[in-house]
Amino acid sequence: MLYKKRTHTCGDLRASHVGQSVTLTGWVDTRRDLGGVIFIDLRDRYGKTQVVFNPKHSEAIHTLAKELRTEFVISVSGYVEKRPDGTDNSKLLTGAIDVLADDLTILNKAETTPFPIDDKIETNEDLRLKYRYLDLRREPMQKNLLLRHTMYQITRRYFDEHSFVEIETPVLMKSTPEGARDFLVPSRINPGKFYALPQSPQTYKQILMVAGYDRYFQIVKCFRDEDLRADRQLEFTQIDVEMSFVDESDIQTIVEGLMQRFMKEIKGIDVAVPFPRLTYKDAMEGYGSDKPDLRFDLKCADFSTLVKESGFKVFTENVKKGGVVAGFAVPGGAAYTRNQMDNLVDFTKSLGVGGLAYIKLTEKGIESAIEKFLGNDVCMKICEAAGAKVGDNVLIVADNWQKTYTTLGTLRLEIAKRMNLIDDNKWNLHWVVDFPMFDYSEEEKRHVAMHHPFTAPNPEDAHLLDGDATKARARAYDLVMNGNEIAGGSIRIHDSSLQSKVFGLLGIGPEEAKMKFGFMLDAFRYGAPPHGGIAFGFDRIAMLFAGAKSIRDVIAFPKTSSGVSLMDDNPSTVDTKQLDELHIKLK
Ligand code: AMO
Repeated sequence: MLYKKRTHTCGDLRASHVGQSVTLTGWVDTRRDLGGVIFIDLRDRYGKTQVVFNPKHSEAIHTLAKELRTEFVISVSGYVEKRPDGTDNSKLLTGAIDVLADDLTILNKAETTPFPIDDKIETNEDLRLKYRYLDLRREPMQKNLLLRHTMYQITRRYFDEHSFVEIETPVLMKSTPEGARDFLVPSRINPGKFYALPQSPQTYKQILMVAGYDRYFQIVKCFRDEDLRADRQLEFTQIDVEMSFVDESDIQTIVEGLMQRFMKEIKGIDVAVPFPRLTYKDAMEGYGSDKPDLRFDLKCADFSTLVKESGFKVFTENVKKGGVVAGFAVPGGAAYTRNQMDNLVDFTKSLGVGGLAYIKLTEKGIESAIEKFLGNDVCMKICEAAGAKVGDNVLIVADNWQKTYTTLGTLRLEIAKRMNLIDDNKWNLHWVVDFPMFDYSEEEKRHVAMHHPFTAPNPEDAHLLDGDATKARARAYDLVMNGNEIAGGSIRIHDSSLQSKVFGLLGIGPEEAKMKFGFMLDAFRYGAPPHGGIAFGFDRIAMLFAGAKSIRDVIAFPKTSSGVSLMDDNPSTVDTKQLDELHIKLK
């Protein structure tokens, strides 16, 4: 053996080990040379232990220890001794002892690292990503990866206990659009043909229901070629679930159970079930978002009826066109200065609406530039509808339904941040239900599925599929935690004729449907059970539990916002021979 293997980890030793001879291995975290005696903190992923090199104890080892620098990898042996009185370090689990070294092997030297391996560093993220192996040595990052590990174990235990079967589905699949762009993989042995990476295992899990695996789950990588944000990666992890012979409440109950476990085992918090349900309409009209953060109030109210006969053209014309005039009261907002208001107006305009009107309710009454158009009475009624008290400020937006509410939703979050209204210790979980089946895409001039094309319509609205389909509600549901969509799912269509009809509404004709989804329509002809499911955004949940600002912090090797992995420099060019084999010519 070239070096001594460890007897303990760097997090193990306590006062009870005093007197024992031990060997530790790890990285030199810090090194201090105090008048001849050298102290190092030795680190591994379990903790840190102080090691003392004293020339009086072993001159040769002390001399060798002079070579040590941070991040050197060593094996060190010695005796566990109690630290002298008053030198205990209560911040370390091993803080009661140190190891008096009598043997040392330097296993590897290290160059000076580009940033310190500290809990808190100011280093920019690109540098951290380039040297991710160093970044991952830092305790906060280790904690995040261990948190993920715990979440995997809880998930697997939970679903196993509830008779779910974990089944892997292919990573090379048929390109079946689900809303985002596919990543394509050229086939060498089938010239001109492509696999797609799954945006989710949606079609496979539904086929598994037809195959009789009535409770399926999988912790699975999904791939979507879409623009990246703090909560989006090109490849991300889902906890994917599908069940047969169920309705919405069965799936929601299973999901609530898992969230209860997560909250209890990870955060030590008991959460009550069932989680509150909010319809899409109420979420949008109340909070301007389909994933509202309900940890704070700032609830919107609709003023359209109050202002539609007023003398303020901007409002009346908008209501005449079918638009909405709505807003919310900001507590204490009457104190906003001219400057603060100008800033808010600019912020609101940057969201793509014409402007932001406001009515301050002060001790002296209404203060508002639009009072002269609306009259005092309407202004007072608006304040009342918004629940404004003296000292508050009602912010008002007028545009079409969608624009008005999404703008108010963004404004609501911005105000909450500026006014510190969000309590980070609060956990809010709720469902958003009754989503519309379709959105109308102005860009593509056609209906697009709000969830995905396999989502069943609410039976009460089935007739609308032959009329105004945009009014039809879907049997879809999202789970929202602290203003983040952490899971989404639906009851599926299990009837091939209804599925064909929905494809038709989505502008997917019979030929295209046959080509893209023929296998599914076929499967549905051989005894498809009623089924439904959901998928959790694993990274987003981990991000929230970790208190991280981005999912990149809970993913070992993430991509930057421009889709690049800085450490191994991918995507990268490939040589012509590889392209030739794939029958590909670059433009
Ligand atoms: P959906 O597209 O809503 O549903 O995805 C489910 C959950 O996955 C997370 N998520 C993402 N996380 C990180 N990066 C991304 N790019 C990303 N996109 C989505 C979200 C989301 O709630 N097959 C359906 C599920 C079903 O119907 O059963 C699906 O994939 O947290």
